[in-house]
Amino acid sequence: MKNRVCKLVGCEFPLFAFSHCRDVVAAVSRAGGFGVFGASSCTPEELDIELRWIDDHVDGKPYGVDVLIPENMGSAVLTQTTKEQLMDQISPEHRRFVVELLAKHGIAATPDEVVRDMLPTLLPQISEQLLDVAFRHPIRLIANALGIAPASMISRAKVHGVPVASLVGAKEHALRQVQAGVDIIVAQGGEAGGHCGEVSTLVLVPEVVRAVKAVRDVPVLAAGGIMTGAQMAGCMAMGADGAWTGSVWLSTTEAETTEAIREKIVRASSRDTVRSRSRTGKPARQLRSAWHDAWDGDSSPGALPMPLMGMVSQAAFKKINKAVEGGNQHALPLVSYFVGQGVGLVENVLSATQVVQSFKEEFAEAFLALEAQVAGADD
Ligand SMILES: Cc1cc2nc3c(=O)[nH]c(=O)nc-3n(C[C@H](O)[C@H](O)[C@H](O)COP(=O)(O)O)c2cc1C
Repeated sequence: MKNRVCKLVGCEFPLFAFSHCRDVVAAVSRAGGFGVFGASSCTPEELDIELRWIDDHVDGKPYGVDVLIPENMGSAVLTQTTKEQLMDQISPEHRRFVVELLAKHGIAATPDEVVRDMLPTLLPQISEQLLDVAFRHPIRLIANALGIAPASMISRAKVHGVPVASLVGAKEHALRQVQAGVDIIVAQGGEAGGHCGEVSTLVLVPEVVRAVKAVRDVPVLAAGGIMTGAQMAGCMAMGADGAWTGSVWLSTTEAETTEAIREKIVRASSRDTVRSRSRTGKPARQLRSAWHDAWDGDSSPGALPMPLMGMVSQAAFKKINKAVEGGNQHALPLVSYFVGQGVGLVENVLSATQVVQSFKEEFAEAFLALEAQVAGADD
């Protein structure tokens, strides 16, 4: 395929794969799709190591980087610049709640251990350093979520000749992004894994395509719930230039997910996810677990704002995953990860290369099946 988004980023097939796993990113790009490495949990040093590895394993194929730079965080949070100042804002009540929740599932922790002792990488001072690293590598796309991409990101990308993509969950957000100079809009419906809005992909994609065309006709990628090539073809029939995916890669052999998460993903139905603030402080879709039920319960102190909630949940989930890996069965009900409603379509574990191949085949079959219906040759 050689549509405008393929030409813009240099890939063969407009299947974009967001992943925190370098192996998935490289495998998808090698197979003709476009891998995008999610940098949000990396320090600048770690990002450099990951991108060097991708450079060495991608066979010269194009790939991108996604940094999470929130436009809005609590103002009280933004004025706090050291990790100690941020940690001080996590109340004894929140710490006690997590300690007790973990204890109920056989995991011992002190109030100090349930807060991550590290400056969150989402803060502007760190995300600028992540951009420094990203632009030192031969990336073909830089993407951002959670609001307007910072002006410095857009201007630096222009200097490097790198297109900028932004994830949006509403038509109004897409228009603001286009006006800010973004080159590709990712219209991400509420089915999606990770941070998401409330409008479904089926409604959001045509809405964004129409609105964007009227202002500046940049490519639009459809995201949220896309697990098959037939869904990708359906979204492109609605005017999208390609698909941006995340959940489908979580159950691949290369993925970063633990065995327990992968097993839950394969078993889960599309009704087993929840859009909750209890992991990052902003609404994000994830596998529903005892963690979410507790934060939604009567004794919950309520979710903290970003990035404080992430400092708590990252520390807690590290302990949960370690406990499960160590054989603690009581910890299993807490296990969760970001995943979208499309999880119900996951039936087995494949390699990332096989998933790209399936998308290509299903896309072609869907296209031919529609053509046959139009021609009346479908019976
Ligand atoms: C495990 C996971 C982590 C994610 N983290 C981010 C992130 O850090 N930055 C971002 O822009 N999008 C993130 N997303 C959202 C994806 O970029 C993508 O829009 C979404 O997964 C598409 O919907 P789908 O999950 O139904 O395929 C994440 C998604 C998943 C599944």
